[in-house]
Amino acid sequence: GSTLREAAADEGGRFYGVAVNDSMLSNSQYANLVAQEFSSVTAENVMKWETIQPSQGQFNWSGGDRLVNFAQQNNQKVYGHTLVWHSQMPGWLENGNFSAAQLRQITNNHISQVVGRYAGDIERWDVVNEAFNEDGTRRQNKWQQTIGDGYIAEAFRAANAADPSAKLFINDYNVEGINSKSTGMYNLVRSLLDQGVPIHGVGLQTHLILGQVPSSLQQNIQRFADLGLEVVLTEIDIRMQMPSDSSKLQQQANDFRAVTQACLAVSRCTGMTVWGLRDGDSWVPDVFQGYGAPLLFTDSYQKKPAYDAVLSAL
Ligand code: XIL
Repeated sequence: GSTLREAAADEGGRFYGVAVNDSMLSNSQYANLVAQEFSSVTAENVMKWETIQPSQGQFNWSGGDRLVNFAQQNNQKVYGHTLVWHSQMPGWLENGNFSAAQLRQITNNHISQVVGRYAGDIERWDVVNEAFNEDGTRRQNKWQQTIGDGYIAEAFRAANAADPSAKLFINDYNVEGINSKSTGMYNLVRSLLDQGVPIHGVGLQTHLILGQVPSSLQQNIQRFADLGLEVVLTEIDIRMQMPSDSSKLQQQANDFRAVTQACLAVSRCTGMTVWGLRDGDSWVPDVFQGYGAPLLFTDSYQKKPAYDAVLSAL
């Protein structure tokens, strides 16, 4: 294949996706490249709780609908992101004082409205995002504090009820290699499967640092796959200390190749998504001081060495 989407499709029908910035979709150069190169889109922000239910009971579908329509026009899948997450919560939810019964009702309603609206249009959902601490224990988010351990199983059951055909994922960062956090996640998904909870996949965000692709990435993907789960690399970027230079860009190409090969080595690793189109679109410089240039395209839409490495690895 001569594009990422074609080459990924030729690898056992995998998808290669990108996180889309809603405000860039009206830029034709941006939109054309997203359509040409990628077979899946994830909303970078517009399906998050703060955007989609900004006040209680009021849903704002504009950005989500725009992305789903774009994907349909371009024969792309949509990866849904995200339903239950401690970050980017609307103020009413973040600051509200809810009983367990109230928060359950609020969450079930959110999930049934959002998953229900896009039923049949969104093939996979990140149902729960970033539920773990680095040591593998549960993050004390609002749901953990109010409802307790059972909130994760409940969220998956609600999503499954709203769209029985959607594949439901748990997603996190720093879970790419075998470590305490990924083992916490592994133990949880095993117990969910034992309990018959409808969970179908694990998302490894894959926000990596140059030269630090975990050596156990493939083995980690394989252990989740061996549970019968799908694995998706959901938010790939590989950041470098700025300024970039040609040797860093070559290292980045090698790192992207290694990530791609690790997924391809496991048949249940069904897709990969990069977390933004161009370096300048990335969240990285805003969050990781001094780092940048983590993606496959330059700000002038040129392919970087990392692009060529991914295309040739696929
Ligand atoms: C980031 C977006 O890229 C930014 O635009 C936003 O300001 C903050 O969130 N893990 C996730 C993503 O699951 O939703 C985050 O996206 C990046 C980290």
